[in-house]
Amino acid sequence: MPSQKIIIDTDPGQDDAIAILLALASEEVDLLGIVTVAGNVPLELTSRNALMLCELAKKPETKVFAGCSRPLVRPLITAEHVHGKTGLDGADLPEPRISLQTQHGVDWTIETLLAAEDNSVTICCLAPLTNVGMAIVKAPEILPKIKNIVLMGGGFFEGGNITPTSEFNIYVDPHAANTVMKCGRPLVIMPLDVTHKALMQRKWLDALRALKTPVGKATYGMLSFYERFDVEKYGSSGGPLHDPTVIAYLLKPELFEGRQVNVEVEINSELTMGMTSVDWWKVTDRAPNATYMNQINADGFFALILDRLSHL
Ligand code: RIB
Ligand code: CA
Repeated sequence: MPSQKIIIDTDPGQDDAIAILLALASEEVDLLGIVTVAGNVPLELTSRNALMLCELAKKPETKVFAGCSRPLVRPLITAEHVHGKTGLDGADLPEPRISLQTQHGVDWTIETLLAAEDNSVTICCLAPLTNVGMAIVKAPEILPKIKNIVLMGGGFFEGGNITPTSEFNIYVDPHAANTVMKCGRPLVIMPLDVTHKALMQRKWLDALRALKTPVGKATYGMLSFYERFDVEKYGSSGGPLHDPTVIAYLLKPELFEGRQVNVEVEINSELTMGMTSVDWWKVTDRAPNATYMNQINADGFFALILDRLSHL
């Protein structure tokens, strides 16, 4: 099967890191480039982390572009309390030797899409949607080029993880998220309703360490640091591995189940800012705009990641 052309938009972040490594380890995807955004930590750190991960994967030729340093309208909210000061605490990686591309990530995304065939590029969103929202507003003519947008974000049955109602990626830039939800291109959403069913188990983390490779060591360290927050908060057996669900969907869509529904984003009420209003029971006449996933084969998901990372 021809490889899928993808762009990854990301704010590494330990879970973003696993998603990036999974993509770099998988020949089913043709990674055109990585675009970083401010989110888990400020842009300078998410960009540094993305470069470090490309070196860790022994893919120094991967193009990394810095995108937006703050949301479209609201002030930046970061998540050092989850990811640590560097955004990749626990990884213990050397300073990157490779450098960022000089072009702005939003401009590169626009240029790349305009040069592509219609319906040919998948945008994988692992972070606040600022870059993608900005690209759509700046150059709406890119829309026919986008095959689909697969994004980690939102929540409904699970509620929120940064406020009682809202998930972090959507909450940080609800205006960008609203633009993406209404863009008219096929959307696949991996919300907390599915990622909270993908909890890391100690046995799996130990299997990463048992790879006895630089990737195994770094991922064991970063994920052991990262999961502590959710284990403590939810009292769960392990932390949720959010962002790799996006890449896993491209590799093995059969791992997931969901429903075509309408999803809209709250951008007015401060109380519910960034909430994803999901018409799961079709109680409105709002047209379905997304495949909203709520089931995952977790064993298959973790086996896929371990297998692919073992080849890096
Ligand atoms: O709510 C989880 C999301 O927010 C993930 O993408 C995580 O990396 C953070 O960006
Ligand atoms: Ca992320």
